[in-house]
Amino acid sequence: MDLKKIPSPCFVLEESRLRRNLELIQRVQQESGAQIILAFKGFAMWSAFPIVREYVSGATASSLHEVMLCHEEMGVKAHTYAVAYAPREFPKILKLSSHITFNSLTQWKRYSKKLLSSPEKVSPGIRVNPGWSPVGTALYNPASPGSRLGEPAENFKGVLPEGIEGLHFHTLCESTSYDLEKTLGFFENQFGSFLPKLKWVNFGGGHLMTRKGYDVEHLIQTLKAFKARHPHLHVILEPGSAFAWDTGVLVATVLDIVKNKGFKTAILDVSFTAHMPDTLEMPYRPAIHGASDEASGGKNDYRLGGVSCLSGDFLEAYAFDKPLKVGQKIVLEDMIHYTMVKTTTFNGVTHPSIAILRPDGQLDMIRKFGYKDYKRRLS
Ligand SMILES: Cc1ncc(COP(=O)(O)O)c(C=O)c1O
Repeated sequence: MDLKKIPSPCFVLEESRLRRNLELIQRVQQESGAQIILAFKGFAMWSAFPIVREYVSGATASSLHEVMLCHEEMGVKAHTYAVAYAPREFPKILKLSSHITFNSLTQWKRYSKKLLSSPEKVSPGIRVNPGWSPVGTALYNPASPGSRLGEPAENFKGVLPEGIEGLHFHTLCESTSYDLEKTLGFFENQFGSFLPKLKWVNFGGGHLMTRKGYDVEHLIQTLKAFKARHPHLHVILEPGSAFAWDTGVLVATVLDIVKNKGFKTAILDVSFTAHMPDTLEMPYRPAIHGASDEASGGKNDYRLGGVSCLSGDFLEAYAFDKPLKVGQKIVLEDMIHYTMVKTTTFNGVTHPSIAILRPDGQLDMIRKFGYKDYKRRLS
């Protein structure tokens, strides 16, 4: 990557890395017999959808706008799941979805007549909560006590509502195939009696099959074993992260270096809270080119400071190979999934541009953001 050619700040998606992930996802689909669809909530850079469409057939949407994006840019009806549907939005969602999953029995009751009497052939499902998740971070744990996400088994009182054709669960996040296997144990234990009456099950997201070390063969075996136990069921997985995992970077520039009581902070032209909120919320520590992840106690240790005025908008020190200079570019790794979809213009900070690096080395600038983008959100 020729950093001189890249404007700063800029998200750069590398097409060849995206294709590498898509090839693996396609192989899992083919060998396991499960359908794998893209969760827009994790990756919705639609200029890359023509590439995604070469490998997978669909997407999952979690709002009316994602449903519309699926229609316009993937050219298919969405698998839709939202925590709740607003009455004014539901008719359009019904029109543009192939599957609609309801988060609660009350939402199903509210919309079942509309759905079942609609000329659109939409397959309805309910999200269930098997009550177990390997996710340690509370913010990302859908199975925490009192969770609002999906119905626990006891709420069904042993009866699957008339008309429901599918069950959906989502309890994983950056998880392994062994976590999925364990989850399936809880799921089948609690909801197994409903399965013979259903057409499909959706295992949600969180299957990080493109991460180094993920046991892809075990995933395929786990999916095949489920299919062997329930041959009539169509199995769907809807990861987001796995599609865009390690597919690109965020290029930033050092604007200043400030010192305070022995701490040196390189102030960048990006903001962690506005452009990479997971680095503060998860917290997730990105790898940085030319730096090791931990402070060494040496003179090239620098905190990385965001350009917003939020006090906590910084990352603890990295040990750089060389002293940093004002004007120097910094490359933050693996900055495509859950970054672009979450950005804000807090403080009016400049939104990073978006580019795709093609396999032949050509850089396609997709979008630059300016004052108008900031202003038109606010009045
Ligand atoms: C219902 C649902 N499906 C799919 C996903 C995608 O998960 P991931 O990007 O971790 O694969 C999420 C993420 O929050 C989700 O809530």
